[in-house]
Amino acid sequence: MHLLLTSTLALLTTTAAQVTYQNLTGTILRTDSGAYGPEIEEYHYYYEQWPIGLAISSTGRFFVSYTRGDYSFTVGEAVNKTAEIPYPSADLNLPVSQLNTSWNGIQFGSGNSTGFISVQALYITPDNPRRPETLWLVDTGRPTIMGEGGSPVMPYAQPGGPKIIGINLSTNSIYATYTFPSTVHYPDSYMNDIRFDLRPHITPSGQGIAYIVDSSDEGRPGFILLDLGTGESWRRLTQHASVLRGNRDVPSYQGHPFYQRSIGTPIQTLREGLDGLQLSPDGEVLYYSPLTSNTLYSIPTAKLRARDTSPLAEMAAQSAVSDLGGRGGNANGFEGDSNGLVYQLMPEHNAVYYYDPVTLLNYAFVRDPRIIWPDGASIGEDGWLYLNINQLPHQPNWNYGYDGRKLPGAVLRVRLPGGGKKITGLA
Ligand SMILES: *[C@@H]1O[C@H](CO)[C@@H](O)[C@H](O)[C@H]1NC(C)=O
Ligand SMILES: *[C@@H]1O[C@H](CO)[C@@H](O)[C@H](O)[C@H]1NC(C)=O
Ligand SMILES: *[C@@H]1O[C@H](CO)[C@@H](O)[C@H](O)[C@H]1NC(C)=O
Ligand SMILES: *[C@@H]1O[C@H](CO)[C@@H](O)[C@H](O)[C@H]1NC(C)=O
Ligand SMILES: *[C@@H]1O[C@H](CO)[C@@H](O)[C@H](O)[C@H]1NC(C)=O
Repeated sequence: MHLLLTSTLALLTTTAAQVTYQNLTGTILRTDSGAYGPEIEEYHYYYEQWPIGLAISSTGRFFVSYTRGDYSFTVGEAVNKTAEIPYPSADLNLPVSQLNTSWNGIQFGSGNSTGFISVQALYITPDNPRRPETLWLVDTGRPTIMGEGGSPVMPYAQPGGPKIIGINLSTNSIYATYTFPSTVHYPDSYMNDIRFDLRPHITPSGQGIAYIVDSSDEGRPGFILLDLGTGESWRRLTQHASVLRGNRDVPSYQGHPFYQRSIGTPIQTLREGLDGLQLSPDGEVLYYSPLTSNTLYSIPTAKLRARDTSPLAEMAAQSAVSDLGGRGGNANGFEGDSNGLVYQLMPEHNAVYYYDPVTLLNYAFVRDPRIIWPDGASIGEDGWLYLNINQLPHQPNWNYGYDGRKLPGAVLRVRLPGGGKKITGLA
């Protein structure tokens, strides 16, 4: 009886070994403090909604996204150190009751192309002669809803719901919206992050391009490319080995092996394909990796830009992928600075590493016990790296409904080495 109880408990909990106390005061042994790198500043605290993406503007305005759920709004602007308000306005958010719809018993996300559904990522592009400083929103069109018995479900996307929205930061008004055909954004696609090259020569339309990762947990991850001038979109590297999640990958968070425990589903391993991406400062190389993988990859961006009218476009892209080797763990979001360093958020190590394309090696940048699941990163023109900390592995959807997160969530910031700053040369 006792044995049975113990093993059942061990199945149910991720934190079996968490409550222990070791008295290190008297030790003569070398110990690991869990910290290194430049000093961290606690920049912002979240008390109302757990964050995902973030972006910092040239004037220090700070924006955050929250995936929905039952949250009332999906994009916010910080008004002080402890609060955010809906941005650009509360009424652009679809009411929670309208986030999903069903057809023949299948749940779909809303197909509303003007209202905000669930914004995953944010990115700010600097102003240029052709467009203002812009806050871009990546709306996945796929909220998380509760199915039978409280099991979390992510409904399929309908065309219209998944979209990229551009907001003029001078006027706080939407000036561009891009949606996708179902042949480019599949019903089970999930747009996770975005980067831009706005230089006129990069596309025939002269308005630049967006590189978007489709991390689809369900299995068809790849790149989505968007011509910002024509609104046309296409895919590359769908299901290429370099974009697939690691099979049966078990990461460790805070020293605990992690399995996903969701109500209504047998225990499974975390599944997430292509997630982090970052452009080189000259726009010629794109670095990327799946989330549940230890390997960093790159591809010349020209191979992603090639259109389907070229019969060999996909073969050429697949042949041009470089395997840059292991980096020392799984990685979540990426950022990159003006020195060409590629920052990678390392949730297993409470750390940020960077890849240096000159030496071809990965390096430790900052590690700290407060970095409990670094989810998004944004480099400001001020030379700081801002990190969203959201304790994601403790969220109820992955822990049989138990919410082990402890308020507040946080933004930590740290100064970049070598005078590194936001990449502005691609505007
Ligand atoms: C921890 O160890 C130190 C030195 O060995 C001892 O003085 C102290 O009482 C211990 N603290 C606790 C809470 O046991
Ligand atoms: C921060 O802003 C919120 C919302 O406007 C307000 O309720 C709160 O009092 C403010 N806190 C401080 C410390 O100013
Ligand atoms: C949306 O999902 C909720 C479960 O969270 C469900 O109760 C509701 O019926 C769904 N709405 C529609 C229109 O299907
Ligand atoms: C889309 O959502 C917005 C925000 O809730 C709403 O104002 C608009 O009427 C909706 N459009 C349609 C076609 O339902
Ligand atoms: C952005 O706002 C500025 C300032 O009002 C305005 O001059 C510019 O035309 C706007 N651009 C777009 C694309 O909305």
